[in-house]
Amino acid sequence: MTKRYAVILAAGQGTRMKSSLYKVLHPVLGRPMVQHVIDNIKSIDVDQIVTIVGHGSDSVMAYIGNDSEYVLQEEQLGTGHAVIQAEKLLGDKEGTTLVVCGDTPLIRQETFEQLLEYHEKEGAQATILTSRAEDPTGYGRVIRHPEKGVERIVEHKDASEEERLVDEINTGTYCFDNKTLFKALKQISNDNAQGEYYLTDVIEIIKKDAGKIAAYLTPDFDETLGVNDRVALQEAERILKERINRKHLLNGVTIIDPLTTYIHPDVKIEQDAIIHPGSIIKGKSIIKKHAEIGPYTEIVNCTVGEHTIIKQSVARDSVIGSGVQIGPYAHIRPETNVEDEAKIGNFVELKKATIGKHSKVSHLSYLGDASVGDHVNVGCGTITVNYDGKRKHVTTIEDDAFVGCNSNLIAPVTIGKRAYVAAGSTITDDVPAEALSIARSRQTNKEGYVNQLKSRKK
Ligand code: UD1
Ligand code: CA
Repeated sequence: MTKRYAVILAAGQGTRMKSSLYKVLHPVLGRPMVQHVIDNIKSIDVDQIVTIVGHGSDSVMAYIGNDSEYVLQEEQLGTGHAVIQAEKLLGDKEGTTLVVCGDTPLIRQETFEQLLEYHEKEGAQATILTSRAEDPTGYGRVIRHPEKGVERIVEHKDASEEERLVDEINTGTYCFDNKTLFKALKQISNDNAQGEYYLTDVIEIIKKDAGKIAAYLTPDFDETLGVNDRVALQEAERILKERINRKHLLNGVTIIDPLTTYIHPDVKIEQDAIIHPGSIIKGKSIIKKHAEIGPYTEIVNCTVGEHTIIKQSVARDSVIGSGVQIGPYAHIRPETNVEDEAKIGNFVELKKATIGKHSKVSHLSYLGDASVGDHVNVGCGTITVNYDGKRKHVTTIEDDAFVGCNSNLIAPVTIGKRAYVAAGSTITDDVPAEALSIARSRQTNKEGYVNQLKSRKK
């Protein structure tokens, strides 16, 4: 089998992004563009991946990690100059090299595979992945000769008026016979409008050297979008969002309004889940069967159980059981565990808290560093006073306890099984099982006080 290599170009600053963040690290649905490229390349059969880094190399390498080898392009003198940097790792190898730009995050694994197959079937020395653009401005144009096929790529800035009318664009992805590529790169110059060493020039060089050039035209321009500025970044976000939403719809997930629903790539959603408008589901979240998310809800890295409903809420890094109801307007912060059939109502904040089965925290409460058993009722306005200014302490509320409204539970403290806390209590000591604790001053009524006050004023 022919060996396959991939070179990913990710050294540019991305001036047109007007950003302090390096271009290829700009996220599309939460994942840096270059990571999308690497992930798709990884899923095809390649023997070696080399990423060319320059601007922000440390952060780019930190993101990609061990998925690639790296070569530093110290000065960014053009895409051709970038590929030359890989010569020390790949130059003398036999095989096929896929070159991909780090700013084309939407090209799918299938398209890379089709390109490679086409290249090998055609027996070409170079195959360009091309597409037809409604507005090709800014892209390199693929210049074909009526009989001799693809002749060269001309960059927009170097193109004549006539060449600019060509709508077949270079997507920036190519297959090359590896040795032919590095040989041709030795001949490129920077004699062009941008004063750069263009990778695209190798096409004409290989052609003149009697090499065979092929072009694989993919029907979907959207997939080949190159992100140079934030207008394109936003388009990439829209296109990927549509692609992901469509996949979930076809898998049996109801998405009421795909236009306002953002589901990140690693999210898993089971059949018959319903996603309401304005929902954003991020990270490695799992939404199980018949769960309902939204409207207007953000879920990050959470597991949400079957038949659970979460409305107008924010939840992060937590596990939520089945048959749970959350919201509207709840905030589930990291390391929270809401067990089956529990109810978390409006304006409740949970942090590092376990809420046991069938327990209710229905209104206006803060439970942090708390362990709440099963069938507990936490009254409106209950607060775990978990922080003494230096350290955090744990509150434990055992099964079947009842905490009256507006109680302060000063941690560390335990409310025993089936115990009662009277409303308005500030609990500083453990409450034994089955006891009633009242920790508030007694009420005094002063009869006729108002009239006494009036006569005093006179
Ligand atoms: C490039 C192509 C153009 C194609 C378009 C597709 C060239 C000369 N032009 O243009 O034909 O239509 O992509 O999107 O190749 N990079 C480096 N080092 C450098 C320069 C660039 O690593 O010295 C990287 C960038 O980080 C980027 C990629 O190469 O990820 C493409 O560079 P960019 O400047 O965006 O090229 P385009 O002008 O878009
Ligand atoms: Ca580009």
